[in-house]
Amino acid sequence: MSDRGRTTVVVDGKAISAEIRGGLASQVRRGVEAGLRPPCLAVVLVGDDPASTSYIKGKRRACGRVGIESREIDLAATASEAEVLAAVESLNRDAGVDGILVQLPLPKAVRPERVAAAIDPAKDVDGLHPLNAGRLVAGLPGPRPCTPLGILEILDRHGVALEGRRAVVLGRSAIVGKPVSLMLLERNATVTVCHSRTRDLADRVREAEVLVAAVGRARMVRGDWIRPGAAVIDVGVSVVDGQLVGDVDFEAALGVAGLITPPRGGVGPLTITMLLRNTVEAWRARLGG
Ligand code: GUN
Repeated sequence: MSDRGRTTVVVDGKAISAEIRGGLASQVRRGVEAGLRPPCLAVVLVGDDPASTSYIKGKRRACGRVGIESREIDLAATASEAEVLAAVESLNRDAGVDGILVQLPLPKAVRPERVAAAIDPAKDVDGLHPLNAGRLVAGLPGPRPCTPLGILEILDRHGVALEGRRAVVLGRSAIVGKPVSLMLLERNATVTVCHSRTRDLADRVREAEVLVAAVGRARMVRGDWIRPGAAVIDVGVSVVDGQLVGDVDFEAALGVAGLITPPRGGVGPLTITMLLRNTVEAWRARLGG
């Protein structure tokens, strides 16, 4: 029997973001009025992947609206790893830069782990430097990856309890799956991480009171995999027939889930907002603002 009688809360990531960005803009304004230079985020783009180009445009616009300066270094798709590392090192040395983000994915010739390790950990607004990843594992403060931060913000703002709850994370990437698993664990959830080799995946997902899907496979989570009343956070972004779809069959989840993020205007705006917040925090730590 389906259990589609329930009202599902559809998360408005734009509204949550607007509120947080308003607070960030005030912090920046106060710092600048007190005589500080504005925060500065530097983005390195290698190649011209259309999705990356469009993300960066969105980031630049979002920075401008809260008073963060943005800089961009564009390298050709044929750039060597050494060239990318040299660009990162020049930004590390630049006292006017607070945050550095190297847009992923990178061309095959450039190893993302080498690039992450080259970024000054104090400017690592993606939270991907091994030192910052280690701080997360150790339970120490440090910059956390933006999408996991956004996920926690959504759950907290909707009053979703985590302590003692069963959370299932689909995907084990360094940027979403692993860090969000650790952050849910830090909040005392009981966390199961599922991946491409997991057996009985549907049964694992059905146990989830909180589900985070971050694999990038269009609509792989069917409606009948969702536990009635679950909080469903869908990070996946795929394009099917020109339409943006998530890892979860959104239409089928409506009426079953207690809360769900939509494919557009769900987690995405929060990821950018958390990037802005990490940049403002790096700026305050650097300048004491
Ligand atoms: N590409 C897609 N999302 C991200 C992100 O959060 N950080 C970086 N560096 N690249 C991305």
